[in-house]
Amino acid sequence: MLEVDDLAVDIAGAPVLAGVSLAVGAGEALGLVGESGCGKSMTALAVLGLLPRAAQVRAGSVRLKGAELLGAPEKALRQVRGGSVGMIFQEPGACLDPVMRVGRQIGEVLRLHRGLRGAAEQKALRDLLLEVGLNDTERVARAYPHELSGGMQQRAMIAMALAGEPVLLIADEPTTALDARIASQILDLLDRLRRERGLALLLISHDLAVIGGRCDRVLVMYAGRAVEAASANEIFDAARHPYTSALIAASPGLAGVARKAALRDIPGQLPPPGSAGAGCAFAPRCARARPVCGERLPAWTALGAAHAVRCLQFEEGW
Ligand SMILES: Nc1ncnc2c1ncn2[C@@H]1O[C@H](COP(=O)(O)OP(=O)(O)O)[C@@H](O)[C@H]1O
Ligand SMILES: [Mg+2]
Repeated sequence: MLEVDDLAVDIAGAPVLAGVSLAVGAGEALGLVGESGCGKSMTALAVLGLLPRAAQVRAGSVRLKGAELLGAPEKALRQVRGGSVGMIFQEPGACLDPVMRVGRQIGEVLRLHRGLRGAAEQKALRDLLLEVGLNDTERVARAYPHELSGGMQQRAMIAMALAGEPVLLIADEPTTALDARIASQILDLLDRLRRERGLALLLISHDLAVIGGRCDRVLVMYAGRAVEAASANEIFDAARHPYTSALIAASPGLAGVARKAALRDIPGQLPPPGSAGAGCAFAPRCARARPVCGERLPAWTALGAAHAVRCLQFEEGW
């Protein structure tokens, strides 16, 4: 459904994404994980043609159902956004207009993207609200966003994302602002929608515990690059990249990890864009790094059918 190939994006001349490739099929969930600032949102925004003005796409392609989105005319991109691609963000305010009733906002998408009017629009609105668990449909439709709880706002944003009948849902930190119980309900809802609607889901989080049980495959990013790709099981049971292992060790929400005596923060900091040297950007923080790691960029090494890693220790001559 979605194929991103070798995507490279600069902001003000500094690379924020370099050689990012990923693919998500219908009914499949891909998790994108990495600490804050590693380029997850930029990847999502590039897919949507919503990169900041200062950003420049240097290379790569983004295809939705085979059609190239990079460089596509704004008119075509407007059909994609809120139409074939639904978006959910951390802040409902990013999607919901604070001064418009929820029902009217969703109704606008139903009119714009599906041409529904009158009773058909009202029925579609009610069905959508029920589908996302907002059962008091009349009250919710009449409410302004601030009159709803955080979890309900998130559900309303999901209903809006679904209103254009998307084939792909991009959820960027959808639960980061919610408490654990509500977060888990929202993730369950996304999971159910993916299965019932056969949606491709790109689930983005800085938190591996969020990605964990809800994705088929996981892509780990560091400093604008993908560094490890694997099935969700393999990421947890057989992580190979030292950065992935550090993320797991630093993730308090993961079963098993919580029982370890000390949760280790990852020492050091993500390098700002453009400041990484010629080699692996993680090398300065990596306990296993050798001098060569700072000199040469690792290539992908395949470790199994669906598991690959970018780290010199898996290359010949280590
Ligand atoms: N509007 C912007 N202008 C300039 N740089 C930005 C902007 N937004 C993000 N960046 C930079 O791009 C990099 C990637 O950011 P982002 O994709 O938002 O990370 P993540 O979503 O993984 O936390 C970071 O270095 C960030 O500082
Ligand atoms: Mg982000």
